[in-house]
Amino acid sequence: MDLNLKGRNAVVTGASRGIGRAIALALAAEGVNLGLFGRDTGLCEKLAGELRAKFPGIKAVVVPLDLEKGTVAVKPAVEAAAKALGGIDILVNCAGGAYRGRLNEIPDESWERYFAVKPLGLIRMTREALPYLKQSPQARIINISGTRGREPGGVSVMSGPINLGTLSITKALANEFGPHGITVNAICPGSTDTGRWTELVEITAREKKLSIEAATKHLVADVPMGRVVVPEDIANLAVYLASKQAGMITGTAINVDGGRTRGIP
Ligand SMILES: NC(=O)c1ccc[n+]([C@@H]2O[C@H](COP(=O)([O-])OP(=O)(O)OC[C@H]3O[C@@H](n4cnc5c(N)ncnc54)[C@H](OP(=O)(O)O)[C@@H]3O)[C@@H](O)[C@H]2O)c1
Repeated sequence: MDLNLKGRNAVVTGASRGIGRAIALALAAEGVNLGLFGRDTGLCEKLAGELRAKFPGIKAVVVPLDLEKGTVAVKPAVEAAAKALGGIDILVNCAGGAYRGRLNEIPDESWERYFAVKPLGLIRMTREALPYLKQSPQARIINISGTRGREPGGVSVMSGPINLGTLSITKALANEFGPHGITVNAICPGSTDTGRWTELVEITAREKKLSIEAATKHLVADVPMGRVVVPEDIANLAVYLASKQAGMITGTAINVDGGRTRGIP
């Protein structure tokens, strides 16, 4: 299937590792040029080299950005990416995370820090990318939320509000940007095998007094599909949402969690 992605330009935040990295790789495999955003420029440069070697002909540019620094940092970063790539067709807001802990375990300043990166970072990135997206014939915004936005709880009380905020803004922007031909969707990963999964296994082992192996088995047993989600599972959907074929999908959020979330999504 021709996804009509060859030669398009994508900006991916959180591209240095985990899910963002997998999305960058999957888009590059479809011939998309990449703006790789992250704080860890060493990891982003390594990925850029890998992309150029694997997919000759694509552009891969590294854009250092700490989203905690706000609009003053986001604006020039987006402008630099648009200039280097020659425009922006696809914005993937993936950077973020949440402090793992119950309410009393989370330092007050951590709430502000994590909100600055994910919901606020997404808003700022979108605002700055908008003039470029409006010029694209196939404009896409893909927000990486999380199933905890729909099913709060677990070992990170912060994941709920952070990801719910991301879902809410996704829906609002889909309504607002539809007339400009821009689709806006969210992907809700379940627990995914990145650094965050390792942390979750360790906390579960500690709380339930299990070995690491037993804690892993315990967590996987909760997934109907019987395995942990991997970053490539999220990346496959991101590529589809970026495609021409997904042009009438907007304002929605899709779980990629192997069925772990209970209830109607
Ligand atoms: N893994 C899961 O189980 C899971 C589940 C649900 C939702 N999610 C969501 O999926 C997204 C990716 O998570 P992941 O598992 O791939 O996590 P990860 O491996 O920890 O990657 C997080 C990414 O966010 C970037 N980031 C963090 N703080 C930043 C800041 N201040 N400025 C700019 N970039 C920043 C990091 O880049 P640098 O370190 O280079 O800055 C990194 O690339 C997150 O939004 C997360 O909430 C993950």
